[in-house]
Amino acid sequence: MIVAIDGPAGAGKSTIARSLADRLGITYIDTGAMYRAVALWAIEANIDLDDPFRLEQLAKQARVEFAAPGNQVLLNGEDVTAKIREPRVSDAASKVAAVPGVRRAMRDEQRRIGTGQSLVMEGRDIGTVVFPDARVKIYLDAHPEARAQRRADEIGADVEEIAREMMERDTRDRTRAEAPLSQAPDAEYVDSTGLTLEQVEDAILKIIRARTSNGKSAT
Ligand code: DC
Repeated sequence: MIVAIDGPAGAGKSTIARSLADRLGITYIDTGAMYRAVALWAIEANIDLDDPFRLEQLAKQARVEFAAPGNQVLLNGEDVTAKIREPRVSDAASKVAAVPGVRRAMRDEQRRIGTGQSLVMEGRDIGTVVFPDARVKIYLDAHPEARAQRRADEIGADVEEIAREMMERDTRDRTRAEAPLSQAPDAEYVDSTGLTLEQVEDAILKIIRARTSNGKSAT
């Protein structure tokens, strides 16, 4: 079973997806971390973010792994969990994610990871491009102010600055030519504004139950 969760930054995707995967006893994959890892490598290797050919090569060579128990992100064997959350990497990741060749490499890798195992995968194009046949698709959204506030609380930064950066990245993610952020026609829309983690999780578990064949089991 694939549970695809897409939506803009700060809607709560990572927290919810991780918690749901735990609860269902299946793998959690944060695809944003994969784009972030490629962006980090590009920054550290001084690769021009306007050079699609070099970025595609990098994306094909990048070995991104998720390590238990803390879901640490490894890039070519190095723990980059903290580094990929830096603002310069956030900005570069949304630029790198607009490159078609990078997206192809990530998509192929994400499909490979999803072969033969159940998982909760979150990102921007999971229900639309990576797993268009996923049985469960959620589009998780929240009001822009709530999303900026959530992110600002998480990283202890100024909310207005975060709101500005987030809007810039979201616009880039929504308007790029290749696999832009959008709600799949068969995705269920969930608005997390003002809801607790438990409330959002309950809403999604209901959707999972309704969409799984016998209606009794979530897996
Ligand atoms: O979810 P996030 O903020 O960690 O994602 C980082 C960037 O990667 C973000 O700008 C959107 C992009 N991304 C994407 O284009 N497709 C995905 N499936 C996941 C993330």
